[in-house]
Amino acid sequence: MLNSKVLLCCIAFLSPILHIKGDDFKEEMFIKPMPPSHLYVYLQFLTLANGEKSFEHSHLAPRSLGEIVSRYQVEELHLTLTEGQWRHSEWGYPVLDAAPGAELYVWFSPDVVDVDTQWKKLSSTLSGLFCASLNFIENFNTITPKMALWPMGANSKSRHNITSQLRYASLPREIVCTENLTPWKKLLPCESSHGFSSLLNSRMIHNTNYHSIGIHIRRMCVDSNCLETNLEIKQTVALVYDFKIINTMDWSLRKLFGQGLPGACPLSSSSKIYVDITSNSSYPFKLQPEPNSVVLSRRGGSEVELAVYDVNHYNMMNIGAKYEIKDKIFVNIPPPLTFNRYVLGYGKEFGGIVTELSNNYWAPIDIVLLENAPWWLPIQLSTLRINGEAESKLIMSQYYSPGRSRQKPYHLELLLKLPPKTTTTITIDFEFVFLKWQEYPPDANHGFYIGSALVSANLPTARNYTSLPITGSTLDSIINASKPWYPMVFRTNGAMVSLPTPDFSMPYNVICLACTVVALAFGPLNNICTKEVVLKVIGAPVSFRQKIFNIFKKKKD
Ligand SMILES: *[C@@H]1O[C@H](CO)[C@@H](O)[C@H](O)[C@H]1NC(C)=O
Ligand SMILES: *[C@@H]1O[C@H](CO)[C@@H](O)[C@H](O)[C@H]1NC(C)=O
Ligand SMILES: *[C@@H]1O[C@H](CO)[C@@H](O)[C@H](O)[C@H]1NC(C)=O
Ligand SMILES: *[C@@H]1O[C@H](CO)[C@@H](O)[C@H](O)[C@H]1NC(C)=O
Repeated sequence: MLNSKVLLCCIAFLSPILHIKGDDFKEEMFIKPMPPSHLYVYLQFLTLANGEKSFEHSHLAPRSLGEIVSRYQVEELHLTLTEGQWRHSEWGYPVLDAAPGAELYVWFSPDVVDVDTQWKKLSSTLSGLFCASLNFIENFNTITPKMALWPMGANSKSRHNITSQLRYASLPREIVCTENLTPWKKLLPCESSHGFSSLLNSRMIHNTNYHSIGIHIRRMCVDSNCLETNLEIKQTVALVYDFKIINTMDWSLRKLFGQGLPGACPLSSSSKIYVDITSNSSYPFKLQPEPNSVVLSRRGGSEVELAVYDVNHYNMMNIGAKYEIKDKIFVNIPPPLTFNRYVLGYGKEFGGIVTELSNNYWAPIDIVLLENAPWWLPIQLSTLRINGEAESKLIMSQYYSPGRSRQKPYHLELLLKLPPKTTTTITIDFEFVFLKWQEYPPDANHGFYIGSALVSANLPTARNYTSLPITGSTLDSIINASKPWYPMVFRTNGAMVSLPTPDFSMPYNVICLACTVVALAFGPLNNICTKEVVLKVIGAPVSFRQKIFNIFKKKKD
């Protein structure tokens, strides 16, 4: 412990002297109260490293990741492990959206020829690194999205056909717990000894309504010619606390994480906390201590007021908010685009998946919807209905790739123009199939998860909603950005179906019944086999007097 501290201090002291070109580490925290009931905390750790030769010349970036990236020739990687469901209509938009369970998508370098083999190897390696069941990613649950995802890094400018280098898979059943967080924290330069990462103890994190950890790697151009690239590793944590669980609306770092913040990570070049104080107008609160500055973000026309703390100015800090009025009605303005997804049907033969997309904005919004159904849930394009109609003018483009049993999932992508102020309902039917008996999970009657649908949208300027969708790298760069639109990828909620399941309790019942029969038969058989049978001597008939006499005689004995 002491050694690591000494080492950290040495590195921190020497880093200006030993400064390695391209190396940088930043930590940021974004806190957004979502009255009346929730609080959103988002942390991001940004490591920039010289991308060549698996980080041999970097003192900040984790070597393990560097080796994975260079060995599998990864251009861009996104991995999230999420527990819970983000509620877009109530909470607005998160900084980065994530699908429930595990989600992984990767762009490989154009030099990779056999992408599928590389993808399988990469997911198995990541599975070992993060102690997650990513090794369950196989061809039968992997798709190659055509329109819904686009790269964010240097490869977005390349002229190569990058869509064919992309693979996407989600495991909605994956459960996220402590053993995923520990290896994730080990990748940070300060691990969990200093800086924001020291707040992340699993006891407090797993107490939340929603938590998601993620790792996002991309290549960044060093200069405008883009001949040289750096690697950016963004590690993110998103938490949603319920005020009912912390028992009060007054929050503080100590209440949320069980401890105050012990200063910044000595290796970081910047360490900042942003508190969204836009909700102050309807739910007034006071911040303790006073923020270093207040900035106004006018990104895309929506105004968001942020209080900024520069943690480098503090040794030990505990930011807290005290609310003044505690029983006021808060009018929730839904964000421009909200969605809902559920399963239709009864019985065990046919069903349907319904995705509802609501455009609450006054102008049409173009979106790409990606439906991804496992092979055991065959969806047919011929059953696609939009607002109940088979032919719809809303579809501008579509892509459908039918699945194959045990080999390939069903994949449908639709480019839609959502009319203003309406809800568009997309229905597609499926049939139930019988699985082989080994293919059922141990708790087959629990049901089967269907992953979320992906919704990609270029959100327009909207003045009336206060959320901070962020796609740039640092929060800092985003606050001042003034692009008129936000490209965002959302995930709808997942769903669950119950497939026709054989009666797995049957063998148990048979064993019980057979055992009972054997037990009942055993007693008499045992009696017959082990007892000696003695013949009774039959003498002369006994007189009535003699009988009575015998009774008394027995009693005497
Ligand atoms: C990219 O590759 C896909 C299939 O691999 C192909 O259908 C598509 O036409 C290609 N696009 C370009 C621009 O080459
Ligand atoms: C919220 O508004 C009140 C006045 O309406 C002001 O006194 C207070 O400082 C504001 N809180 C924050 C965090 O800015
Ligand atoms: C904002 O809301 C007001 C009324 O609440 C409405 O008149 C105005 O058109 C809205 N603006 C936008 C950009 O949606
Ligand atoms: C945003 O830009 C203004 C000048 O346009 C600058 O003064 C301010 O420091 C910038 N804020 C951030 C957070 O970068």
